Order: sequence, then C-alpha cells, then structure tokens
Amino acid sequence: MAKFPDSFLWGGAIAANQAEGAYLTAGKGLSTSDMQPHGIFGPLVNRTDNQSFIKDTAIDFYHQYKTDIPLFAEMGFTCLRTSIAWSRIFPQGDEIIPNEAGLAFYDDLFDEMAKYNIQPVITLSHYEMPYHLVTQYGGWGNRKTIAFFEHYACTVFERYKDKVKLWLTFNEINMSLHAPMTGVGLPSDSSSSEVYQAIHHQLVASARVVKACHDIIPDAQIGNMLLGGLVYPLTCKPDDVWEAMTENRKWLFFGDVQCRGQYPGYMLRYFSDNQINLTITDEDIHDLKNTIDFISFSYYMTGCITADKDEYEKRRGNIFTMVPNPHLESSEWGWQIDPKGIRTLLNILWDRYQKPLFIVENGLGAVDEITPEGNINDDYRIQYINDHLIQVHEAIQDGVDIMGYTSWGPIDIVSASKAEMSKRYGFIYVDRNDQGDGTLERKRKKSFYWYQGIIKSQGELLR
Ligand code: BG6
Repeated sequence: MAKFPDSFLWGGAIAANQAEGAYLTAGKGLSTSDMQPHGIFGPLVNRTDNQSFIKDTAIDFYHQYKTDIPLFAEMGFTCLRTSIAWSRIFPQGDEIIPNEAGLAFYDDLFDEMAKYNIQPVITLSHYEMPYHLVTQYGGWGNRKTIAFFEHYACTVFERYKDKVKLWLTFNEINMSLHAPMTGVGLPSDSSSSEVYQAIHHQLVASARVVKACHDIIPDAQIGNMLLGGLVYPLTCKPDDVWEAMTENRKWLFFGDVQCRGQYPGYMLRYFSDNQINLTITDEDIHDLKNTIDFISFSYYMTGCITADKDEYEKRRGNIFTMVPNPHLESSEWGWQIDPKGIRTLLNILWDRYQKPLFIVENGLGAVDEITPEGNINDDYRIQYINDHLIQVHEAIQDGVDIMGYTSWGPIDIVSASKAEMSKRYGFIYVDRNDQGDGTLERKRKKSFYWYQGIIKSQGELLR
C-alpha cells in the first residue's frame, strides 16, 4: 500500500452535544439537542419535569478532555474535529454580549489540543441551536436568525482567530430535509415551503459567515458539511437511473449552492413544479456568491432507489428511505457497508466542484463486548475503516484532492439518531450504558492500536 500524502490530516470527529454533557454548566442555555433527548428524529420534550437524559452528561468530555486529548495524541492524531455549542456562547441566541465562561471553555480546549499539535477542525453548528431561537423566533424559518448566527460566528472567529484555521459551517446541512427540528429548528410537520425557506436562510447565513471568516482570519479555510448520501439506481432501467439522479440532487443541491454561489436550474424547476415560492432578496443573491474553500462530508453507507412505486414501498428500508442494495452487507443498525462507494463519491464531488475534499465522518457503529480478560477486540471496526481508507487512497490516485480523514466518534459518544451508548464508533471505549450507568472510564480497544499504526505508517499498513 502506497503512502498517503504528508499533508494528509488524520484524526477523529465528535460533536459538542454528543460528547460534552454539562448541558447547563457555566451559563449554557438549552439547545434544540437538549430538547430532543431521544435523538435527532425524536420528539421535543418538556424539560420542566426533572427527568435527566443521556446527552445531559454524554461522556462528560466537558470535564474530561484533558485526559481524552492525550489519548487522541497517543494515536497520532494531527487534527480533531469537534463543534462549538452555540448555546454555550449565546445561551439564548439573541444576546449581544457572549457568555465569557462558554468562550473560556473552548479557549482551554483548543489550547489543550495545541499542546499535542492537534489541529482543531471546528463546526459552528452541529445539530443544535439555542432553543430560545425556536420558541421566540421560529428557528431558521425567521430571517432574523441569519443575523444571530452571523453574530455568533463572528464572535468565535474573533476569539479563536489565532487558534482555529479550519472551520465548517453547518453539520450535514442537508439533514434538514429528514429532521427539520434538528437542522433548522422547525416542527417535523412543517411544509416543504417552510423547510426550504428555512434552508435558504441557513444557506445565506453559511455564505455570510464564509465572508466573515475570510475577513477576520485571512489564513483560515472554511468549508461546508454534507451528508454524503450517495444513492444508486436499483436497476439499469432509465427511469431508475433518473430517479437516482433526482435523489442525489436533493443533497447535492446544498453543495451546488455553497460551491457555485447560486441556485441550480433543476432546483428552481423543483420549486416551481411543487408550488414552493421562496423569498429570496437581491442581497441574498449577492451574499450567496461567497463560496466555500473546501467541501467536507460524512460517509457511512449507500442505498438504492427505484421509480417503481410499488417496489419502493415494498422494499424501502432505513431512515433515509432507501431500498437496500442486494449486493451489500449491513451493520447491526441496518446501515449498508460500501467501501467502494466512498471512492465513487469522492470522484463525483471532485469532478463536480474541483474543490478540496475532507472526509470528516466515517465509521462503524457496533455493539462492543469486553472479554473476560478486559479486552475489546473490535476487528469488525478495523475491517470497516481499513476497507474505506483503501478506497480513499484509490481516490487520491484518481487525482482527487483530499485534505484528510476524521473517523466518527474516535471515543465512544452518544448516538445522534438513537441517543444510545450501545451504538459505539470509538477506538476508545467509554464505560457507560444506555441507561446512563457506568464509571465513564476510558479503555483502549484493539482498533486503537491499529489506527495508531495506520497513522504512523501514513497508511502503509492498510491491507
Ligand atoms: C452523522 C452525524 O449523521 O452521523 C453525527 O453528523 C452522528 O452526529 C453520525 O453521530 C452517526 O450517526 P449515529 O446515529 O449512529 O450516531
């Protein structure tokens, strides 16, 4: 196996709401994530009833990062992706003055990473926003949220301009189509018009903060973040091929706007065919021209689609309503494992945009067992990441410009979709179960040593 380029960033990715816990500590306000304790597709709860939920403590990264970061360093990480919890900085979202305790927390976190030469890759909003913005303003449905977000982003750009040089705007920005509360702070029964208007506001906000980032930190790079939901036609029937193209455009649309600075024609047709009348101002059109520097994306699985409605209804499977691919195996959670798909996706994105790509999430959620000797032999996870990295390397050979790879959840964290601990992605085990019991002790899995070897050898040990 040939080596990966020297400049290739190696690391892992977590998110504030799935790792930090401390959900009301040091002035933090309630976020949409706090109000959706059963996962990103789950209902909102009333938090006045004194119940506690798993994300409230998560893996207590807020208090334990000083011992977690050395573990990442031990694996050889050159970067760590995490997010800033917006509601730590602006507890309600509409304040003028930020919460100093929240800012200080991330100062310390980034300083700790710097001690180990781990470069921060920071998502401005990972599946959360201050809940007050939802109740008082209607989330991203309200144009005012653009200014609140811009104020938040400029505050953290100013504060961390010497510490953070790689930024991402919205995690999996296309997720709003599947989980409107998580993505844009809208109720799950919102109409398509409402959701796309909120998405429009978010796209404008994303573009505006790209400009702000370039102005405030000229030597930084800022990217988007897409859920890379590659869909294949179930058969080679032309109708199925077209259906797959349409399905892929549902998420590529976000990348098209963020990379090209304008709405693609196919989307304008979609809006017109579906009586979706968006309010798009001249200023929005101007702002959208602030395009991103690089594209980041998550990749876990692929799926199939068919134009045959009966067949589709009969066979559709997972959360993204795709038809299972008969040629692929699935994880315990029904996510289909497709290493070759990441090469295809990387090539598609490179051909389409000619901008550097960053794989900021990939990995296998699985149940881990501890042997009587106290080991966790997660060969299935090693296999999954090995096979994907081989395809990433192939894509580099294909000429694709790839900045780096951060595996999802290098330390076990709370699952976003299920809000459970038992769906583990980590190289580091955390002693906590779905009921919230456990010591929170950290333990190296077999994959820890494997990933360490891969990073050390710059990929030469991949098989
Ligand atoms: C991505 C999200 O969709 O997938 C992460 O950006 C999430 O937040 C990850 O954790 C894996 O999903 P899950 O549901 O297995 O945690």
